[in-house]
Amino acid sequence: MNYITFHNNVKIPQIGFGTWQIPDGEVAYDSVKFALDAGYRHIDTAEAYGNEASVGKAIAESGIKREDIFLTTKIHNKEHGYEKTVKAFKKSLELLQTDYVDLLLIHWPNPLASRDNWEADNAGTWKAMEEFYEKGMVRSIGISNFREHHIEALLKTAKIIPHVNQIRLYAGEQQEELVTYCKAKGMALEAYSPLGTGGLLSSEIVNTIAQEVGKSAAQVCLRYDVQKGYIILPKSVTPSSIKQNLEIFDFELSDAQMGKLDAMENICGPTKNPDETTF
Ligand code: A2P
Repeated sequence: MNYITFHNNVKIPQIGFGTWQIPDGEVAYDSVKFALDAGYRHIDTAEAYGNEASVGKAIAESGIKREDIFLTTKIHNKEHGYEKTVKAFKKSLELLQTDYVDLLLIHWPNPLASRDNWEADNAGTWKAMEEFYEKGMVRSIGISNFREHHIEALLKTAKIIPHVNQIRLYAGEQQEELVTYCKAKGMALEAYSPLGTGGLLSSEIVNTIAQEVGKSAAQVCLRYDVQKGYIILPKSVTPSSIKQNLEIFDFELSDAQMGKLDAMENICGPTKNPDETTF
């Protein structure tokens, strides 16, 4: 297993199991359980995904020690501000059947419920998260879907620079300026939708490279992000795919192949502007 080290020296497995769009109940339970059995030691969930209860149950019943699993959750868009964040996180811990998470993120910077007050609400949420950090209730804290101006606003009052920004990243969606900015601040990058929610798998460029290296299209996409130094969070409910997505550390893409993927257009639809979301 490869690890990425945050600026507070916490190590995160470079591949995590993404649970966005996995429905709560049997499907979430079974796929998380299968992922843990297959060797994943990093699970990414969120209050907004509605599946924390199943994720928590699968972890608790996996037979794997809690401290051997890196667990991430996120503060819901409707729970911004200090008090709401304290309550929401308590609920997440209950659902997840644990007394700490390894990484807690603010899910979106400017949700509809906070649009008139997003800057102050993020500052309040962050203050609560810094207190969780000091109390050992979280091992690291970060943000998701934040752009530069949201981060600049947060840093006006933050004591801790976010350990990570989780954003939409894949071949064709580079977010280059944001990535450069985050790196300069010392933040790690997490790539959500590393397969473009499946849209990249039919790309001719990706499939040609897959044939060249004798791997699947999904593995090529994931390997691309790994070579970029990103933490990846592929989602799947299919056992063979869950397993296959782990098998990406035994081959390398050449500079020429990376260059072709770098040059790809975004074929999976535009990334949402966080200042214009309707949720
Ligand atoms: P499924 O969940 O039905 O197995 P992303 O991680 O970018 O959000 O992409 C998730 C999508 O990609 C899902 O539709 C998932 O399908 C599909 N997927 C994940 N891994 C693979 C794989 N190795 N081969 C084919 N499809 C995959």
